[in-house]
Amino acid sequence: MALWGGRFEKGVDQFTQEFGASLEVDKNMAQQDIAGSRAHARMLAEQGVISAADQRAIDAGLARIAGEVADGTFPWDVNDEDVHMAVESRLTAEIGQPGARLHTGRSRNDQVATDVRLLAKDLCRQLLAGNVALRRVLVDAAEKYLGVVMPGYTHLQHAQPVLLSHHLLAYYWMLTRDFTRLLAAYDAADANPLGAAALAGTTYPLDRQRTTELLGFDHPIPNSLDAVSDRDYLLDLEYACSVGMMHLSRLCEEIVLWSSTEFGFITLSDSYSTGSSIMPQKKNPDFAELTRGKTGRVYGDLMALLTTMKGLPLAYNKDLQECKEGPLDAARTLSDCMEIVAGMVETWTVHDDVMLAQARTGFTAATDVADYLAKKGMPFREAHRVVGELVLYCEQHGKGLEDLTVAEFRAASPLFEADIAQDLDPAGIANARNTYGGTGSAAVRVQLGEAQASLASDEARVPAAR
Ligand code: ARG
Repeated sequence: MALWGGRFEKGVDQFTQEFGASLEVDKNMAQQDIAGSRAHARMLAEQGVISAADQRAIDAGLARIAGEVADGTFPWDVNDEDVHMAVESRLTAEIGQPGARLHTGRSRNDQVATDVRLLAKDLCRQLLAGNVALRRVLVDAAEKYLGVVMPGYTHLQHAQPVLLSHHLLAYYWMLTRDFTRLLAAYDAADANPLGAAALAGTTYPLDRQRTTELLGFDHPIPNSLDAVSDRDYLLDLEYACSVGMMHLSRLCEEIVLWSSTEFGFITLSDSYSTGSSIMPQKKNPDFAELTRGKTGRVYGDLMALLTTMKGLPLAYNKDLQECKEGPLDAARTLSDCMEIVAGMVETWTVHDDVMLAQARTGFTAATDVADYLAKKGMPFREAHRVVGELVLYCEQHGKGLEDLTVAEFRAASPLFEADIAQDLDPAGIANARNTYGGTGSAAVRVQLGEAQASLASDEARVPAAR
């Protein structure tokens, strides 16, 4: 029911009313709306704007309504334009006059801004928890697969052998940066617009510090116009989700490749695979593909809101009603995808023999063979050429570097001796790279320790629920 009946001679038709409504999406922030109203009423009573008795009636009524929303018995009415009206009409229907006093010194403009900020904080909190849960899975996997050697790639061509743990930890660090971005989005949302009223503040003696405290915001927003019209924090959230999805899509792309017949590095658990309706042999990595695919819609959510916000004059404009679906979709998508990826990694089977065999192919020892010569005094550029010629020789003779005899090596350079064999073993090659951040097992152990420490500290930084 419209709350502005006084000024109007007739209402809008049903289609137009539904076009203008945001009730469906607003249902996602009903609890936030109720929390905002309870804080507002309490502050109003403390400031002597409404009576203590009215405040008690409002608070009890809103607590009941919160229960109805939670257990699904709240009577949503499509004729309510948004959640603010739905809750307020229900309250007034239930408790009468005191309910009609709730909206004193408040506008739906600061109300919706408050609700969406509370919602954004809740979404960030959930995403931060999901982020550390997935990072825990990656760290555990890195620990579990410490002995596994695989080919490392550049240009998707075999480059140098690396440890699977090192590869997985690369994703761990990407996700660690995602945590920082999500936490920044949380901090951006953590400011209180309530009390800005429609746009200019209000003549009632509102205590904005008090509602800030009651709602667990960090500080009140210092400018009422900015308070009702800012949605930057949602862009921050959507950007954080976009980068998070981009990272997951990269990992999922590798999962798709690795589970293919050509790679054969991993087998996904049946619980994370699907079959084909026609090809009986098929086992498809649908969930990795879907995660990769859903990245697009999250980018879309970000672009949609950036575009909606562009050129909006101060202060509130109805365009802002469009700001909620995108962040909800982006957050839900990232949250679901993080859970799916965690499940895939936890349950996959790693074929370490295939990874190791592949790590031998494609002349992945070539750099180390060149380094062998350089360490014996040959300038590296020259060593690079000598080994390049050796690779060509191997290709022409259908051999790998490890198939060459010492005589063949020595024909390329007299600096080669029998100990060159040690530099052809993929595990030896990977494990020799122990500069900080390298793939050698000693360096990876150091890295793993740092990852575990950063994870423990981030787990403690996930904000507690309201
Ligand atoms: N349903 C509106 C929204 O979501 C609430 C604010 C409406 N304010 C207004 N002046 N029409 O943005």
